[in-house]
Amino acid sequence: MCGIVGYIGHRNAYDVIIKGLKRLEYRGYDSAGITLLNGSMNIYKKAGKVSDLENFAEGKDINGSVGMGHTRWATHGEPNDRNAHPHKSNNGKLSIIHNGIIENYATIKTELIKRGHVFHSDTDTEVLIHLIEEIQHKANVSLEEAVRLSLHEVVGAYAIVIISEDQQDELIVARKGSPMVIGIGEGEHFIASDATPIIEYTKNVVYLNDSEMAIVKKDSLVIKNIENVVQNPVIHELEMQLEMIEKNGYDHFMMKEIYEQPKSIYDSMRGRIRATEGLISLGGLKEYETKFKNAERIIIVACGTSWHAGLVAEYIIEEFARVPVEVEYASEFRYRNPIITENDIIIAISQSGETADTLAAIELAKSKGATIFGICNVVGSSIPRASHAGAYTHAGPEIGVASTKAFTAQVTILTLLAWSLAQIKGTLSRTRVVELLTALEAIPAKVEKALTSNEQIQKIAANFKDAPNFLYLGRGFNFPVALEGALKLKEISYIHAEGYPAAEMKHGPIALIDENMPVVVIATKGSILEKTISNIQEVKARKGIIIAIVTEGDTEVKKMADYVIEIPDTEEALVPLLATIPLQLLSYHIAIMRGCNVDQPRNLAKSVTVE
Ligand code: F6R
Repeated sequence: MCGIVGYIGHRNAYDVIIKGLKRLEYRGYDSAGITLLNGSMNIYKKAGKVSDLENFAEGKDINGSVGMGHTRWATHGEPNDRNAHPHKSNNGKLSIIHNGIIENYATIKTELIKRGHVFHSDTDTEVLIHLIEEIQHKANVSLEEAVRLSLHEVVGAYAIVIISEDQQDELIVARKGSPMVIGIGEGEHFIASDATPIIEYTKNVVYLNDSEMAIVKKDSLVIKNIENVVQNPVIHELEMQLEMIEKNGYDHFMMKEIYEQPKSIYDSMRGRIRATEGLISLGGLKEYETKFKNAERIIIVACGTSWHAGLVAEYIIEEFARVPVEVEYASEFRYRNPIITENDIIIAISQSGETADTLAAIELAKSKGATIFGICNVVGSSIPRASHAGAYTHAGPEIGVASTKAFTAQVTILTLLAWSLAQIKGTLSRTRVVELLTALEAIPAKVEKALTSNEQIQKIAANFKDAPNFLYLGRGFNFPVALEGALKLKEISYIHAEGYPAAEMKHGPIALIDENMPVVVIATKGSILEKTISNIQEVKARKGIIIAIVTEGDTEVKKMADYVIEIPDTEEALVPLLATIPLQLLSYHIAIMRGCNVDQPRNLAKSVTVE
């Protein structure tokens, strides 16, 4: 949430920062702003997108080779010019950008007002820069020391960059609970919330750890913890390629990412299975095999789409490995004093690896002695670093705010985990594993086939672009798919949509059904198809409109559905990987026809680093 870019070196800082902010816009797009040092300190900021900032800065002094920029997802203070970052100190000499929340800002603000500070925004961030100024002058210390001392006073989460007009050769950076990456170039350094603004300049990066600060100059980088102890930075090499973060001819990142799924699913299993031998090798699992084998239950914590992947996993793990699974919203879990023991395994699922609630749930479970297995997409992010073991999904950068390829990659890994655990526990025969893995290997090609329905789905979408409500129904493995389909539609098209287990409909939602209600039913081949067909009939009897996702060759559902979208046949447990595809496409087309910005839906941000 909120994107940060900083630069110090020999290039034009404005160009690097604006380009970087555009890459980070998925993190928030309520306002954008920039500070540039060019003898004096120039600050430009504007409500709206990074392009609004560019228009605003046109014709102004945008020179200088030191600067920082911010794209905001509003928490404290509405999204307007005044509340846009950067914020200045009272004397106008210091400037700050911030991602996170300063929880005790109100107390500090009251104190600073008493000392004569005048505030110009409603943000928590502005308080921090006033505090730094106050400490710098009162204690007569360097900027670096003032920042360090201030960070001891604040409670909350932050990733910050600070610039001083009086020290034109350095940027001060710090983090706690919000991500920060520093790119190391030749006579230049880059700072960003994730590696996407850095990748085209350098592959060498340092991930700042919690409670660390960095003093960044053109030619030097010093990292200390906030106790003032110098740290030895570990330099990582980025694996990401530039093409991965560009649209490559697609109109939107979301569509590109939907179409990448044959590859991302393949990449998430690549090197991890040998189907003909019935072998699954998840590196992270090896060391904790005994823990997993003896676990009496598994708790999955996640949020949003990742939580839906967790629900799919509940069905798959219980079906194959016969271990009880509980799937928890991380935000609820962390505050409800859950019962956790040292025998528990916690699987934390997160695309970004930065979701604040999921991180907090992990910390809570860790403090009670549980073993944490993280499943994340962003390499080097906070959740993998906070986990004992884990597996990366390797789906590649997901830029569209609505999660698509990350979901199917998560389900792929969770499926492998379930089958691997089943092997460890002896609940799955080798012959059956060979069959299942062979079916999984065929999934990328089947996703490819499912994507060929795009034009048909676009036509169906045209009939429903003005619908005010949608209902999504599914049973068994497909129930989480229904939830995910509904979430995708509401977040990008702003149509109200509900996902339900199909049979639960008659306990309430059936009252909503009339001749105007589109009902998407996942009615694929499997053990409970007959039951789902009965639910379809209940909808039809009330004149609801059925859009059915069926297995190729189906004849039964076709007789009663108004619209039918086919997906290839596969193992029942693997259907979510295919059934999700048409639902993603349906949401995409409906949203586009309604004129919505699918890559940056209103009020949302890709990486939710506030609770
Ligand atoms: C929906 C979506 C969100 C995320 C949720 C968790 O399309 O993207 O619901 O799934 O914010 O994010 P991660 O997976 O990064 O923890």
